[in-house]
Amino acid sequence: MTQDELFKVLVAHCKEYGFIFPSSEIYDGLAAVYDYGQMGVQLKNNIKTYWWEAMTRLNENIVGIDSCIFMHPKTWVASGHVAAFNDPLIDNKDSKKRYRADVLIEDYLLKIEEKINKEVAKGRKRFGEAFDEEQFRATNPNVLREKAKYDEVHNRYVEAENKNDLAEYKQIILDCGIVCPISGTANWTDVRQFNLMFSTSLSNTGANDDKIYLRPETAQGIFVEYLNVQKTGRMKIPFGIAQIGKAFRNEIVARQFIFRMREFEQMEMEFFCKPGTEMEWFRKWKENRMKWHVNLGMGAENYRFHDHEKLAHYANAATDIEFNFPFGFKELEGIHSRTDFDLGNHQKLSGKKIQYFDPETGESYVPYCVETSIGVDRMCLAVLSHAYTVEQLEGGDSRVVMKIPAPLAPIKVAVLPLVKKDGLPEIAQKVVDELKYDFSYQYDEKDSIGKRYRRQDAIGTPFCVTIDHETVNDGCVTVRDRDTMTQERVKIEDLRALIDKKVSLNNLLRNL
Ligand code: GAP
Repeated sequence: MTQDELFKVLVAHCKEYGFIFPSSEIYDGLAAVYDYGQMGVQLKNNIKTYWWEAMTRLNENIVGIDSCIFMHPKTWVASGHVAAFNDPLIDNKDSKKRYRADVLIEDYLLKIEEKINKEVAKGRKRFGEAFDEEQFRATNPNVLREKAKYDEVHNRYVEAENKNDLAEYKQIILDCGIVCPISGTANWTDVRQFNLMFSTSLSNTGANDDKIYLRPETAQGIFVEYLNVQKTGRMKIPFGIAQIGKAFRNEIVARQFIFRMREFEQMEMEFFCKPGTEMEWFRKWKENRMKWHVNLGMGAENYRFHDHEKLAHYANAATDIEFNFPFGFKELEGIHSRTDFDLGNHQKLSGKKIQYFDPETGESYVPYCVETSIGVDRMCLAVLSHAYTVEQLEGGDSRVVMKIPAPLAPIKVAVLPLVKKDGLPEIAQKVVDELKYDFSYQYDEKDSIGKRYRRQDAIGTPFCVTIDHETVNDGCVTVRDRDTMTQERVKIEDLRALIDKKVSLNNLLRNL
């Protein structure tokens, strides 16, 4: 199966087992908007708890808030979003479809890369064991021709991006013969900037001066509450404010399932520090956040840093933590050193003094800020795509198992009486009563035990507990491990400790 096909299978699996549904599906859905089902919401909540506790419980100097989606419109002038939160868009005059100009070019480059990879694959097939990929790439005329084309377009694209040269974007599209996939023509409009913020009106008159925005990031809620939190919490620099909440962006190219959505959730932490110390904190937060990810056991090799060469005007350092998604390494989290840009601009525009008085040195200053920002939905996608596994079993059978890190699994334990009679459901109910205060569980007595195991594998339940006829005599149950499928007999009173060892979020936090 290609990665593309695998991704489609994952999306279908997420729907079939109640993780994620297209929004408003009975009306044919709404592009790039998704709902979380009964399994998805529990996975999402567990991810949020892992992040929230790691931030606010493990760090004495980080507190959390919950600010509103609607904010004073000046917020977005101060943050720069009104002026500069734009995507370069182009319309096809024949199909009337709108595209992101940069994405059209990136897709074109991707196709060249695919062509090169196909050539390499052909070479590998032809030369077998003796194949030397490096030499092949350096000498094969087809590869060299495609590579030269790639480099030429890529260099022009990077330069256009750096200079924000919209006319050059269009010229590249025309020169490369990029056509609209719907109309098949290159009848393009000029490239224009399009603001990504959704807006609505505060009153019901619809007047333009009532215009307010749905926040495109949660961070600004933290900046405007900085003074309140610092004063009421008697916070001393350095300290952080964390927040989890919804954000909205009118993404034109919304694709790759929950990777890029129009309504999504962010977990952001703004860490305020003394100017001059921000690089030290930036390094610490890079390390800290990578540790948080790797601690989940999804393979350190699946993460990498991508340091930004081109920095936004307000940042003096920036990096992404990228994850190896089914469509390649892509941004999962951003870490930025944002200087005093946000607090400084809010101070200017509001006319309110936003300064920190350092009682030890007697200095007053606008604090600098290091931000860590991760999308909850992207994190869900990282977990789900890594977890999806198809295993061949003895006897030619196969199983689909979601190897979700156990502390994040929606359901921690399934309680399964072998048959619906002989007093086994009653014992199973007692097992449920023993476990339900500590763990999310499912009780299932329908179908064969094999089918019930498969259902639990498909939603990633780490443990299945089976109550059989022997349980009546010895008070022991069979515990089946999701990943190894090994089974062991355990006394009912020992179940809680055994399950907790593997699924406990506190244990996960302890390892940080
Ligand atoms: N406050 C900084 C900020 O918002 P960003 O890189 O635009 O920075 C941070 O977003 C994170 O939010 C990303 O790394 C990603 O995980 C998530 N994110 C951004 N746009 C998203 C979208 N349209 N859909 C899902 N997640 C998104």
